Amino acid sequence: MNGNEDVLILAIESSCDETAAAVVRNGREVLSNVISSQIALHTLYGGVVPEIASRKHIEKINQVIEEALAEAKVGLSDITAIGVTYGPGLVGALLVGVAEAKAIAYAAGKPLVGVHHIEGHVSANFIEHPDLEPPFVCLIVSGGHTHLVVVKDYGKFEIIGRTRDDAAGEAFDKVARAIGLGYPGGPKVDRAAKEGNKHAVEFPRAKVEGAPYDFSFSGLKSSVLNYINHEKMLGKEICVPDLAASFQNAVVESLVSRAVAAAQEYGYDKLAIAGGVASNTALREGMREACEKAGLKLYYPSPIYCTDNAAMIGVAAYYEYQNGTRAGWDLNAVPNLRLGER
Ligand code: KG4
Ligand code: ZN
Repeated sequence: MNGNEDVLILAIESSCDETAAAVVRNGREVLSNVISSQIALHTLYGGVVPEIASRKHIEKINQVIEEALAEAKVGLSDITAIGVTYGPGLVGALLVGVAEAKAIAYAAGKPLVGVHHIEGHVSANFIEHPDLEPPFVCLIVSGGHTHLVVVKDYGKFEIIGRTRDDAAGEAFDKVARAIGLGYPGGPKVDRAAKEGNKHAVEFPRAKVEGAPYDFSFSGLKSSVLNYINHEKMLGKEICVPDLAASFQNAVVESLVSRAVAAAQEYGYDKLAIAGGVASNTALREGMREACEKAGLKLYYPSPIYCTDNAAMIGVAAYYEYQNGTRAGWDLNAVPNLRLGER
């Protein structure tokens, strides 16, 4: 035993293309955060191949967990509970983490806590911001999700906006492919845009009629594709940095304007961002400027806690554990698990 009242969570994350394990103390202190990324492997195919992801998770998961325990200098007997992402995500990938977590929890006689992946992303903000406590507004922008939520309490969300089509990260990935930057698109567009003029091409900012906090990115993606085709037909060279910067600016403006307006209208003075796209430099910059103007306090995690990791799952699992959430041995992967559902 760890000899005091500390709650130590061993957390496991395998919902997409990162095999990850972490040990988190008392919900806020990361003792270890081990991530085995499959990005190099999937790059060969231009995107995540689900079957390959599952196989790689199986190969790596034991090693990653052993490393996480060793780095944290704890043994399984010191662990209070096992937290695991059970959805949303790729079913085969999720199953690897869920089966592993169940096996460890059963063998070691520890409680098991199922964690919603998006709740994990939101919770990443608690790691480096000891002052951040609910309620606050959070914009979650990842490869599969774009949500604007009020975090009413730990694990309690009110969804006030969502994407009607592509997620923000998905738009980055698709546009990156179209302009020849390859996979993973987000970081590559981010980098290319630094050399470009964000006003070179004015792309439309879609609004969803009657839903001021909803997002839509598929029209923007089509506009980029149309622009590329049009320029090619005219025999013109495409300036990749200008195109990347202009596209990114359109995404950033629609994210920033809605998130800030929502925080103001709902009456919260704290705004957080989360998910892979939250590490985008233009989004951070745009948010900083807008929040300063609006008198809002802005929070975002370090890039390592924005993209998929298990530390964020450990934080969410801690608060769920404290709320009494426990999973049974029948815990299953739920690929389309919705936020706020159990
Ligand atoms: O949260 P995450 O690691 O996985 C999901 O839960 O989906 O997010 C991955 C997404 C990818 O679409 C990736 O292109 C995007 O986050 N991303 C970025 C940046 N870094 C990662 N998008 C824009 N700018 C970045 N710097
Ligand atoms: Zn994620």
